Amino acid sequence: MTDNDRRSQTPRPLEELTLTVADDWHLHVRDGAALATVVPHSARQFARAIIMPNLSPPVVSVAAALAYRQRILAALPEGVSFDPLMTLYLTDSMSPDEIRRAGDCEHVVACKLYPAGATTGSDSGVTDVARISGVLAEMERQGLVLCVHGEVTDPDVDMFDREAIFIERVLESTVRDFPNLKIVFEHITTTEAVDFVAAASPTVAATLTPQHLMFNRNALFVGGIRPHYYCLPILKRESHRKALVRAAVSGNPKYFLGTDSAPHARNTKEAACGCAGCYSAWHALELYAEVFDDANALGQLEAFASFYGADFYGLERNSGTLSLIRESHTVPESFRYADSEITPLASGRALRFRLKNPRQ
Ligand code: DOR
Ligand code: ZN
Repeated sequence: MTDNDRRSQTPRPLEELTLTVADDWHLHVRDGAALATVVPHSARQFARAIIMPNLSPPVVSVAAALAYRQRILAALPEGVSFDPLMTLYLTDSMSPDEIRRAGDCEHVVACKLYPAGATTGSDSGVTDVARISGVLAEMERQGLVLCVHGEVTDPDVDMFDREAIFIERVLESTVRDFPNLKIVFEHITTTEAVDFVAAASPTVAATLTPQHLMFNRNALFVGGIRPHYYCLPILKRESHRKALVRAAVSGNPKYFLGTDSAPHARNTKEAACGCAGCYSAWHALELYAEVFDDANALGQLEAFASFYGADFYGLERNSGTLSLIRESHTVPESFRYADSEITPLASGRALRFRLKNPRQ
């Protein structure tokens, strides 16, 4: 075989990929001065995002969610459209009345269940799901989605097992007791979670983050401790990462994009007791493209990023397109963040794809 023959038999890598504009089904934008950095970054590539409510104090009412939504919109660059889809933070004392108000409000689409103490801003979270059964029943009636941080908080449970044990102790019975409640198992990190979602009813879906698709737990300890790779749930071993990638590229509509981009000022991560969270809002789609390319599955990226989440939430798919081109560039070392700096996920690394036509 000549070199020419061989070249014509090897498929040429896709140089440019055009997608329907994507959405982020799990995003932290924080509040105050931080919004000026992180909202424009998300809006570069996403038309909508599910906005997490773990502010301090948390967003526990429709009135607070609507006020927060206005602050997010005010941080958008001129002429850029971006629809913040709001969520309420569930506490032990959330009332079914508030859930009814949420059901009547077009801008509130979901509620977030943080087990108390599980992660950043979860101190006011739910101490026992039994305490919110009336609220979950009302959410089911109203068609509101339940977004779940799926980790038990029992200090006796090993950090790396907290997601798998949550499935057994909390999620299985919640799915069984509320068969019509739509549930998103957020930022899944384990084979157990992938399998649980695959086998569950169509009311159950999951989001996948760029960090859990790209890295395993070794990334936390390359030559020393690497706080910018620390998030919750924590990165797991390679066999789990591979299971997540298989789920993402499978074409199963239960798995869709949710970055969990979670900004923290650099000094609060590079600290004796550093915060959990990886910041990916600026380059999320480029990171996902690399994962799909490595799996030879770029053709599945559009459905994962732009269709399945909207379909699950019962919202229209976006119109308009975005293009990614195969062109190496380096993730910046930092961005300005309020009066401090933020270090993005994979800072300093070369990326293989570049957003050709950012939305702003
Ligand atoms: O790593 C994380 N950071 N996981 C979460 O669940 C919360 C998030 C945050 O808000 O910083
Ligand atoms: Zn999150």
